[in-house]
Formats: sequence, structure tokens, C-alpha cells
Amino acid sequence: MVIRLALPLLAATGVLANPKRGLVFVPNEDHPEDNKIWPEDSAISWYYNYESRPSPAFADISQSDFAFVPMQWGVDANNPTDDTFLRNVEEQLDGGTNITHVLGFNEPDGTLDIGGSDTLPEVAAEAWVVNFEPLAKRGVKLGLPACTGGWDGMPWLRQFLGNCSEILSDGKDDKKNCTWDFLPVHWYDNVEGLKSHINERREEWPGVEIWVTEYAYAHKSLDEVQEHFNTTLEYFDDSDFIGGYTYFGAFRSEVSNVGPDVTFLNNDGKLTDVGSWYMGRSATGVDPQSGRGESVMISWAIVLGSMGMVTALLL
Ligand SMILES: *[C@@H]1O[C@H](CO)[C@@H](O)[C@H](O)[C@H]1NC(C)=O
Ligand SMILES: *[C@@H]1O[C@H](CO)[C@@H](O)[C@H](O)[C@H]1NC(C)=O
Ligand SMILES: *[C@@H]1O[C@H](CO)[C@@H](O)[C@H](O)[C@H]1NC(C)=O
Ligand SMILES: *[C@@H]1O[C@H](CO)[C@@H](O)[C@H](O)[C@H]1NC(C)=O
Repeated sequence: MVIRLALPLLAATGVLANPKRGLVFVPNEDHPEDNKIWPEDSAISWYYNYESRPSPAFADISQSDFAFVPMQWGVDANNPTDDTFLRNVEEQLDGGTNITHVLGFNEPDGTLDIGGSDTLPEVAAEAWVVNFEPLAKRGVKLGLPACTGGWDGMPWLRQFLGNCSEILSDGKDDKKNCTWDFLPVHWYDNVEGLKSHINERREEWPGVEIWVTEYAYAHKSLDEVQEHFNTTLEYFDDSDFIGGYTYFGAFRSEVSNVGPDVTFLNNDGKLTDVGSWYMGRSATGVDPQSGRGESVMISWAIVLGSMGMVTALLL
């Protein structure tokens, strides 16, 4: 009896949180209501925002409901040993916030114009020793810098780890390696390519835990996007070596830089099929490119404005 009563309640009020599934949070300042969507009644259990501090939109939500994972986005090459990131994370830990994981630099092998942090391995290594090593001592799990999906990623990481080890060992015979717990990757192409990208890293570092911290099937049709979405989700959830994943698409179609059909929201801020599936809910049938959109609203305002002027002149 109890079970029969409880079941509909569960179905009506909540979906099970998926511990691997996270959010790449890209705040929408024009439509702050979009920001509130993700943690509510959702399978998404954690998020990152490319910053060391949590987003104001989620300030009231506990770590156990929606865990914040801080990131040091890049490194100031003129001041690589700046410890702002460490201090910001320690402040959260000291204040009782249960920070369990942190992320290294965003696309250090990519240039600024494509969103990379354009950081040399030896510069990144200096920053790592100052900002990340002390967090490992406090039990926080460290994610290596997330390189682009390009060929430069592996050489960058090898050099980074070598440089880091040199700094930590400080010329002593007893070589030490820098600490890290998992390896984030980014991927915007097909599933076959994603798997081979991941397997290449599993061969280099046997037993490695992979986090896919940015992915989508960029600039593809809605059918291709949805098939890719389903296949990758199943692969991530079923593979023990995948520790976390965050789809890149939690924004409206019109602002997407990875194609108009990959997004979780249409131009009115309504959940698309993939957006709803990602949250653990059922299809909505909402076309990503549907909705009026901001640019259309702006041009309407201009049209109405000039019509008003015409009317005024006529009168
Ligand atoms: C912090 O969160 C982790 C993962 O959810 C949990 O295992 C751990 O017990 C928590 N620690 C504290 C002090 O609450
Ligand atoms: C970093 O690594 C590269 C390649 O292994 C090496 O040439 C360079 O000397 C290293 N730099 C530092 C500061 O350790
Ligand atoms: C350091 O890392 C290198 C490369 O992965 C590995 O060959 C070596 O055994 C490691 N050394 C220590 C002391 O763990
Ligand atoms: C994707 O999965 C959903 C269920 O989660 C299903 O309804 C849909 O038909 C699938 N689409 C494709 C293209 O596999």
C-alpha cells in the first residue's frame, strides 16, 4: 500500500539525481529566469561556471543537491604563482562548503579567440603547484587542465606534467609527480572520434578517470544532434572510467556558438527535447530554433517605433 501511494508522488515531484551528470553553466543576464531551470526537479547533480566561486543564481542550493566544482580558468603569465584561486577555494572549505572536486585550466592549448586560456605548459605548471597541490592535501580531487579536442592536447599535457614534476622535485634525485585525480576532455565531433580520443588517453594513463567537461555534436542537424546525444549519454552512464560529463548547450539557440540545434533551450527559453532528457524528464517536442527570440523582438521594437513616428508625422 505504501509503495502504491509513494510511486505517483515520486513521479510527480522528482527525478533521480545522476551523480555523473553536470552542467556547464553559462549565465543569461538578459533572461535570468533561464538560470533557475537547471537544478529544479533535475537529474543534474553538479555544475561548473569557469570560475572559482559559485554562481549567485545557485547561492541558496546546497552542495549535496547541486555541487559546485570550482575552476581556475587560466593563468596570468606575468604572475603565474598568484594564489587567488587557492584562497577562494580555501575560503569556501573553511566556511563549511563541501568542495570535493576542482578543475584545472580551460583549453590552455587553445588561443583566446576560440575561448582557450592560451597558457604555456611551464607557466601552467607553476600555477598548479601553488594553487592545486595544497588542495589535494585537504582531500579535494584535482582535474587536470582540459585541453581542446585538437592534436596539441596530448603533447601539452605531457609537457605540463613533466614541468610540474621538475618544479615539485626541485632538482632532487627523488622525483615526485604532481598530484591529479581525473582528466577532463572536450569534444565537439562524432561518437567514434570521442571514443578514440578517450581511449588514447586511457592507453597513456591506464586506469585514468575521464570527465567530459564540454561536448556536443556541433553544427549538425537536430536528428544528428539527438542521436549523438542519446548515444553519448548511454556510453558515459555505462562506462566506469567516465567520472563526470557536462553537455555544452544550456542556453538559447540564438546565442549558440556550436550550432542552433544542439541547445537545451529554444529562443523563448523553453526546454527542448535534449534539454528535458538531460534533466531526466520526457521529450517536450520543442524545436530549438522555435520562439520569437531577442533579435526578432528587437527588430519588432524598431518596426513599431518607426511606425509610431510615421503615424505622428501623418497626424
Ligand atoms: C562531502 O561530499 C561527499 C560527496 O558527496 C561526501 O562523501 C562527504 O561525506 C561530504 N563531506 C562532508 C564533510 O559533508
Ligand atoms: C618544460 O618542459 C619542456 C619540455 O619537456 C622543457 O624543454 C622545458 O625546459 C621545461 N621547462 C621547465 C621550466 O621546466
Ligand atoms: C611519474 O610519472 C611518470 C609518467 O607518468 C611515471 O613514469 C613515473 O613512474 C611517475 N613517478 C612516480 C614517482 O610516481
Ligand atoms: C533518444 O532517446 C529518447 C528517450 O530518452 C527517445 O525518445 C528518442 O526517440 C531517442 N532518439 C534517438 C534519435 O535515438
